[in-house]
Amino acid sequence: MKGIVLAGGTGSRLYPITKGISKHLIPIYDKPMIYYPLSVLMLAGIKEILIISNPEFIDIYKNIFYDGSQLGMDIKYQVQDEPRGLADAFIVGDDFINNEPTALVLGDNVFYGQGFGPVLEEAASLNNGAVIFGYYVKNPEDFGIVEFDENRNVVSLEEKPKNPKSHYAIPGLYFYDKHVTEIAKNLKPSERGELEITDLNKEYLKMGKLRVELLGRGFAWLDTGTADGLASASEFVRIIQKRQGLFIACLEEIAYDKGFIKKDQLLKLAQEHKGTEYGKYLNNLVEE
Ligand code: G1P
Repeated sequence: MKGIVLAGGTGSRLYPITKGISKHLIPIYDKPMIYYPLSVLMLAGIKEILIISNPEFIDIYKNIFYDGSQLGMDIKYQVQDEPRGLADAFIVGDDFINNEPTALVLGDNVFYGQGFGPVLEEAASLNNGAVIFGYYVKNPEDFGIVEFDENRNVVSLEEKPKNPKSHYAIPGLYFYDKHVTEIAKNLKPSERGELEITDLNKEYLKMGKLRVELLGRGFAWLDTGTADGLASASEFVRIIQKRQGLFIACLEEIAYDKGFIKKDQLLKLAQEHKGTEYGKYLNNLVEE
């Protein structure tokens, strides 16, 4: 399975915080936002990643993650000239995907919860169909929504409906089989002129190949779309990290745990963060 992190768009809803900078690089507590969704793909065991961003930001990402080999990964970059919708990621990423199953995570989605690793690994083992998630929220009208019948079968999917048929939002994390690009290429733009991820999911639903996994109430899928959401997400990460002394979305730690890199490499990465809490944390991982 390959993975795409979509980090495009203007972030205009967060101006002036994001004016002139990529939304996905603003901090959630002690690390850039993009670390969180990228960590999710890594926890799924995905090492081959494509980061998609705007022409003006793509080099910044290259200067942060290089070719990924320092994390035992293979990270590539692709420009999206203009935002044409989430499903466009599979067209922009056609060469990278190269007819293989591919996961997509949105660069502003933050996930945290017990037992997520095995769920992700299972989703990443998919060869046929699609896996998406459902999460109960107070404001379903702001998201893609999934409606179930009493037997938990998916009845419908809708993108930001005015009158939502359920409270289950679809988070920005999607796993697809190798047909995803071909299906994306056949989508028609929506009324707002975008290739909607919800329309892509509807195609899988029509084929009877869409699985929806529910993330329970003990799980956190945080909002980063408003100044309040950002502050709350930072506070959430800070509280958990301070209490446990364990970091959320520490890419170097995950690379080490997953066996992408060995001890000596982790120590090298720690050296790069010398004199910071983050560097101290990485060093301690080796000692433990
Ligand atoms: C997008 C999708 C929506 C999904 C959401 C998750 O919306 O279109 O289906 O629920 O991401 O973050 P956006 O918030 O990018 O408009």
